Amino acid sequence: ALPTHVRIVEVGPRDGLQNEPLSISTDVKVTLIEKLAAAGVSYIEAGSFVNPQWVPQMAGSDEVFQKVSRQPGVTYAALTPNLKGFERALSAGATEVAIFAAASETFSQKNINCTIDESLGRFEPAMAAARDANIRVRGYVSCVVGCPYEGDVPPDKVRHVAAQLMQMGCYEVSLGDTTGVGTPADIQRVIDACSAEIPIEQLAVHLHDTYGQALANIYAALEMGISVVDSAIAGLGGCPYAKGASGNVATEDLVYMLNGLGIEHGVDLGELLEAGSYITTKLARDTGSKVAAALADR
Ligand code: HMG
Ligand code: MG
Repeated sequence: ALPTHVRIVEVGPRDGLQNEPLSISTDVKVTLIEKLAAAGVSYIEAGSFVNPQWVPQMAGSDEVFQKVSRQPGVTYAALTPNLKGFERALSAGATEVAIFAAASETFSQKNINCTIDESLGRFEPAMAAARDANIRVRGYVSCVVGCPYEGDVPPDKVRHVAAQLMQMGCYEVSLGDTTGVGTPADIQRVIDACSAEIPIEQLAVHLHDTYGQALANIYAALEMGISVVDSAIAGLGGCPYAKGASGNVATEDLVYMLNGLGIEHGVDLGELLEAGSYITTKLARDTGSKVAAALADR
């Protein structure tokens, strides 16, 4: 059965912008985040605290967190790879953080320069510091279906990494189809494997739309009881270490589908469209949202 309510995790300001080639000013990032919150988005991944030499676009995340005007009930989260990242996020005022592991060794090396086991080791001190600071930690597993370097990824490998993130104290793990290669059968297989060890309420999906499968995959996930879905405004996104990976599912398209299904989510489509058109104008690029494109033509 489908859930009655879905929590949307907006990753546009982080996943969406991290890969953009043109430098984006802090003010534009801040305005985008404020528009998303105004549209009713209650969870926004607003930046990341990684090595700025690796991902220059996120170098100014400190300033973004400091400048954004906070709305009550909205979580402003940051992506953090280690203790140093966590400390930066905390002093910038992030209200929640996310750590990120992979189900593929090669992707882990390319993305965060260490093995999967080493990455879990680096998360431990960050988890401990988060516990002390009373900050909730979300976990990601990347490459849950396929890896840009290794090809097919076995669901058991994903389950193993996801279970370790939960054991470390994450309250939720988001399953990332980083390159968007999965079809609904793949997504159901991986959710099936993970839900053997992790309650379905604590699993989320993070589906890139590279192969045009994201909405179908989300629907398949909803049918299995998943009720937390990551998406990015205007379908922005990609990972610098997954060549050819395009954007996340567009938040506008997700909201349109949820509206049609009568599933609550708290977001106003009209205001969301405005946030999307704001950022695509600033980036001088076309929207990646089919819904935004369809409604713009009318
Ligand atoms: P490393 O080189 O192995 O780290 O990088 P290190 O500990 O050896 O340190 C090397 C230098 O980096 C040092 O500086 C550290 O201080 C600095 P130096 O002494 O040489 O001047 N450093 C940092 N600086 C700022 N903030 C930090 C930090 N940590 C170390 N937190 C590291 C390891 C993880 C830092 C690096 O590989 C990195 O930054 N990688 C970027 C990864 C990334 O952001 N990828 C994109 C996001 S993941 C994604 O998009 C997937 C996702 O969306 C889900 C999905 O789609 O599947 C989440
Ligand atoms: Mg991603």
